[in-house]
Amino acid sequence: MFDFLTPANVILGLKIAVGAVTLIFLASTISILLKKKKLHGLLNTIFFALTMTAVIAFEVIIRFILPDLTAQFSPEAKRALGIHLFFSIPSALLLPAMLWTGKKHHRLHVPLAVVFSTLWIGTVVTGIFFLPHD
Ligand code: HEM
Repeated sequence: MFDFLTPANVILGLKIAVGAVTLIFLASTISILLKKKKLHGLLNTIFFALTMTAVIAFEVIIRFILPDLTAQFSPEAKRALGIHLFFSIPSALLLPAMLWTGKKHHRLHVPLAVVFSTLWIGTVVTGIFFLPHD
């Protein structure tokens, strides 16, 4: 039933998902630069929901369906995964804080946005370009 969930397919699917939500994040950043605060909040709430759904779906897959996802990784790919996790774990942990500070704690929101954006760019670049999907 889960035959299509090969390591290559799962990683490629995640790359596409990360690329897609990054377009939403880009649109939300453009909207705040254009001072459209409500639109920024709406786009980022969607960004948050889709990203968290992808993270949870991926966790379920690697815990229960494909626990050996990275078993065939070369030493080089394992190093790339380590670098990717350096960015992706903190950025996933920061996401709820971004939503909360955007709504309730505006003074913290922008400094945190600088940290989050750096981590997100690192996540996207190392995830899409460094990890193997074949
Ligand atoms: C490039 C990164 C980001 C920048 C520069 C940024 C900047 C801002 C600014 C300037 C505001 C207005 C705050 C105020 O009312 O004084 C804001 C509001 C908000 N931001 Fe962000 N933000 C970023 C990323 C995020 C992310 C990643 C999220 C959520 C996942 C988020 C969620 C929100 C929400 C919910 C609001 C409130 C919108 C409203 O009042 O209707 N932001 N942001």
